[in-house]
Amino acid sequence: MQIVKDILSLRETRRQWQIDGKVIAFVPTMGNLHQGHLTLVKEAKKYADIVVVSIFVNPLQFGPDEDLDAYPRTLQQDADALDALGVDVLFTPQAKDIYPRGLEQQTFVEVPGISYMICGASRPGHFRGVATIVCKLFNMVQPNIAFFGEKDFQQLQVIKAMVTDLSMNLNVVGVPTVREEDGLAMSSRNGYLSAEERQRAPILYQVLNTLADQLELGRRDYSKLISEASETLSNAGYKVDYIEVRAASTLLHPGHEDQELVILGAAFLGKTRLIDNLQVTLK
Ligand code: PAJ
Repeated sequence: MQIVKDILSLRETRRQWQIDGKVIAFVPTMGNLHQGHLTLVKEAKKYADIVVVSIFVNPLQFGPDEDLDAYPRTLQQDADALDALGVDVLFTPQAKDIYPRGLEQQTFVEVPGISYMICGASRPGHFRGVATIVCKLFNMVQPNIAFFGEKDFQQLQVIKAMVTDLSMNLNVVGVPTVREEDGLAMSSRNGYLSAEERQRAPILYQVLNTLADQLELGRRDYSKLISEASETLSNAGYKVDYIEVRAASTLLHPGHEDQELVILGAAFLGKTRLIDNLQVTLK
């Protein structure tokens, strides 16, 4: 596996692949890789001749009080895991090359509407930071196909909207959430949990499942369902950020005709913010 740090070398390598007619798959990450990330890489390998993975902890998507400095950085371990999977290029750019004019001067990609609701309402500017870095990385790697986890369901919808709206020449593929045996969605942030919090962490997913069961039983009193779910989480010591039931394709509040729904939840256990979601098809 080649480790490429600078943008010019990446472009040079990319040019040769183009000449050779290779299909290029891309998996952007912020590192501290776990089986969730590695599953995206395995999927990417099925579709393409060349797999590029990026690791860049993107300052633009972190709020002022968020965990940018504390975010786990495990580059050697990550590189070993990617090498073992047969990744072709690991791209690890530096912030000074990604944002040469500084964060203040940066041109942004803003996907309105979908970026401002749910997680976007709790984390102002977050999806602008995500859309901007993903657009920039797409411009550098120029993939034919890119892979994102359904774990970050709203992020996946923001990226899909950006690719459509800006007529970007690639396919975006969503990959189902990879979970620990007890149901907890894998996340780099799970490492922040104390042993005692880790024991309670699967409750978020259990609560989403209970809500899904109620929907399948025919209940449509969304606000009551949401307050029941929130209460269960509060009783288990969580500080609830949101629980939402939305139409899966638009993330808007569901109407009678919507059958594909998604239940999204975010809640703090101590200082750690956990997010999860579950898709439900109504009959
Ligand atoms: P990061 O949190 O490192 O996640 C990288 C990719 O892995 C994302 O597409 C995410 O949805 C996916 N992923 C994380 N945990 C997963 C799990 N348990 N199952 C399946 N997929 C999972 O998301 C980001 O980085 C950044 O916002 C990024 C897109 C790289 C832009 O900076």
